[in-house]
Amino acid sequence: MPLDRAKNKKANATSYSSQDSLNAIMKQKIKSNTSSSDKAMQSGTSIFDPVLCELAYRWFCPPGGLVLDPFAGGSVRGIVAAKLGRKYVGIDLSARQIEANMEQAARICGNNKPLWHIGDSREIDALCPDVQADFIFSCPPYADLEVYSDNPQDLSTMPYPVFLKAYQEIIKKSCALLKENRFACFVVGEVRDNKGNYYGLVPDTIRAFMDAGLRFYNEAILVTAVGSLPIRVGRQFEAGRKLGKTHQNVLVFVKGDPKKATQDIGPVEFGEMLTPLDRSDEVNA
Ligand SMILES: C[S@@+](CC[C@H](N)C(=O)[O-])C[C@H]1O[C@@H](n2cnc3c(N)ncnc32)[C@H](O)[C@@H]1O
Repeated sequence: MPLDRAKNKKANATSYSSQDSLNAIMKQKIKSNTSSSDKAMQSGTSIFDPVLCELAYRWFCPPGGLVLDPFAGGSVRGIVAAKLGRKYVGIDLSARQIEANMEQAARICGNNKPLWHIGDSREIDALCPDVQADFIFSCPPYADLEVYSDNPQDLSTMPYPVFLKAYQEIIKKSCALLKENRFACFVVGEVRDNKGNYYGLVPDTIRAFMDAGLRFYNEAILVTAVGSLPIRVGRQFEAGRKLGKTHQNVLVFVKGDPKKATQDIGPVEFGEMLTPLDRSDEVNA
């Protein structure tokens, strides 16, 4: 969940080394749901919200089901899946990020470890040909808001029209690996171009999933911490009536029949997340 441009360019250099703080943030977040996002904000690293992740898996992924993540990023989505007894296959271009994720999963997860592939998700069909996903869940690069590397295959390095073409291709190929009567969910946020206008990443995401044959089913708003926005937005609002933003868009899509998809998920799951060992052994039973 990228914050703002300048801050994030710098932030990238630090994301791997903050794995330990990520641990603390995840544990704290799962337990207390309050302070970790402020910590994450202060450190400037975009760390995915583990509570949003937990809700998404419990609501939209069958127990024991397989989560496919074409833009894996940090370890949160993989580890939360493991802790909830779901299988997880994530793809990311960044070998360093994947190494850090696997190291962390080795420390936190029981037998049911998330699986990460290093690669370009435009080749997701070749990278994981046998995957039949029960849920697609991801947080793509928000265009060039946060640049993750100088790798030309990295979508965050591409001019928007090139970004969009690659983005549409990855969504199409990921949806082809999703079983019928299943849900998909992307967390995205609008991004301004260098003239200050929004690219339209949210509607482009919706269109890309619909072009891939899915239906646009739910829309939720994740309100993020206000942080320093009131201070930062003053001048831009006076100068150009530009509003600041403290939310992300949680877009849910369905392939086939939502009722059948819900039947396969079963009753709404809630309650304390089981300790790593309990649930993880179930998956392999
Ligand atoms: C929003 S980020 C993840 C940010 C955040 N840390 C997270 O965990 O959600 C998106 C990720 O997409 C990856 N990425 C960019 N282009 C890619 C591509 N062509 N194939 C696979 N991953 C890609 C980047 O390396 C980055 O880690």
